Amino acid sequence: MKSQLEVEDITVMFGGQRALSGVSLKAERGHVTGLIGPNGAGKSTLFDVISGLRKPATGKVFLGGLDVTRAGPSRRAKHGLARTFQRLELFGRLSVRDNLLVAAELGSQRRKAGSVADDIIDRLGLGLVATTTADSLSTGMGRLVEVARAMAVNPTTLLLDEPAAGQDREETERFSLILRSLAEEGMAVLLVEHDMELVMNVCDQVYVLDLGKIISVGPPELIRRDDAVLAAYLGGS
Ligand SMILES: Nc1ncnc2c1ncn2[C@@H]1O[C@H](COP(=O)(O)OP(=O)(O)O)[C@@H](O)[C@H]1O
Ligand SMILES: [Mg+2]
Repeated sequence: MKSQLEVEDITVMFGGQRALSGVSLKAERGHVTGLIGPNGAGKSTLFDVISGLRKPATGKVFLGGLDVTRAGPSRRAKHGLARTFQRLELFGRLSVRDNLLVAAELGSQRRKAGSVADDIIDRLGLGLVATTTADSLSTGMGRLVEVARAMAVNPTTLLLDEPAAGQDREETERFSLILRSLAEEGMAVLLVEHDMELVMNVCDQVYVLDLGKIISVGPPELIRRDDAVLAAYLGGS
């Protein structure tokens, strides 16, 4: 049986440059799977391929065992996929709560969008900013609201692109508990993150991407000692 998310042999070309080269990975329900690598490694490009925003030159994407390689972003969303973006993509002039409502109305629990939004506001501790407009939030808070918005569609597969950037230690620790609980409720979480402490604390499995190729995969305690990984980080950008 296939994992909740599987990508097989993905290659992406930008002009003559190979941004991704034969990339395969799996993310299971109940697990937080990490995707790390130096800047420019191709992490966000892989998210674009998984979410259907970019067509790969080769390879396949499976969601819940279904081949969605030819499906567009909205069909993939209907199959339970949600993501956040590295650059914030909130509706700036809407309040935090309204951003969540818009998302909840797209999801499988649209009939109780209001209570979905309020539950997530509680869960992520966003009560104090619920009526604040998104464009007046700090970066760290904005990222947390992006995660909240992705949660509001009630996804099965959640892709997070550097969600903890701009969060302080305490916020990151709270965030790591939230990620673990989402996985425990049965979500497949794929996490791109530069904060190594967060990655090592929450991930069950970590993939390391360098120059468009997976150079290592394993549990965090092995990845942090892997020579190829250390070389990619020390020698990388
Ligand atoms: N739209 C694009 N057009 C051309 N090159 C791109 C584009 N997006 C990303 N790239 C290049 O692809 C490579 C991977 O980028 P990206 O996926 O953003 O890496 P990461 O998220 O790991 O930092 C980089 O060399 C980047 O410059
Ligand atoms: Mg990126």
